[in-house]
Amino acid sequence: MIENAGRRAADLIRRYAELPYEVGIVLGSGLAGLAEDVDDPVRVPFSAIPGFPRVAVSSHAGEVVLGRIEGVPVVILSGRAHYFEEGNAQAMREPIAAVAALGCDTLILTNAAGSLRSEVGPGEAVLIADHINLSGINPLMGEPTDRRFVSMTAAYDPRLRADILGAAEREGVHLTTGVYTYLAGPTFETPAEIKMISRAGAHLVGMSTVPEVILGRYFGLRCAGLSSVVNFAAGMTGADISHKETKELAPIGAVKIERILRRYLRDRR
Ligand code: HPA
Repeated sequence: MIENAGRRAADLIRRYAELPYEVGIVLGSGLAGLAEDVDDPVRVPFSAIPGFPRVAVSSHAGEVVLGRIEGVPVVILSGRAHYFEEGNAQAMREPIAAVAALGCDTLILTNAAGSLRSEVGPGEAVLIADHINLSGINPLMGEPTDRRFVSMTAAYDPRLRADILGAAEREGVHLTTGVYTYLAGPTFETPAEIKMISRAGAHLVGMSTVPEVILGRYFGLRCAGLSSVVNFAAGMTGADISHKETKELAPIGAVKIERILRRYLRDRR
């Protein structure tokens, strides 16, 4: 079921470029370069689409990029709104609903994240296998029907994950898998928090993606997530963590993610 707001946004987006859309891709901090891969791109600012959020994090573009990559029609959401910006757990509801209403069956989310494994450092790409939601929020809170009880058992689609891992291998790009922990932010974690989530089985930590995966599942999309590691998590080294580091280092892992996704799209045919 796709709600009216998503349909209205999709109708408007189709007026810019009418394609048989298949894959939606969300680009996180420092990952906007992936939008450069789109052939004959049509760009629509979020601000032109009713219901789309304002994007206010530096390094997030806030535009929809429409076109084909490796022949596959894609809807790229370049930039995202986070819960921590306005305290709105549904910040990405309309964009994700629109991806579904445009006919996509697949949603690929990217982000910049901290790593909890000393052997997986900045510049690495990691495929999300599962998540732990420690934020206390959920974008389906307040949803009135039983449809809110979404199964998260295979939230990160096993077949899609296998396809992406295969694409990375064929492309010769090193890709590990890991469990992503979502905290609301916007502060980074304390070393004690990192110790706790490490014991709980986390490999990555970040402030995004999980609300979008929940919305993606709600709207019936197959989801995958890829992280560009930008720092070791708090307390693992002597260093402080900063958003400047995220902006500087995300593009390194992003180049890997870009190659993997291009290959995935090429081989999807
Ligand atoms: N913690 C939370 N979010 C992040 C981090 C981190 O260490 N790095 C990039 N985004």
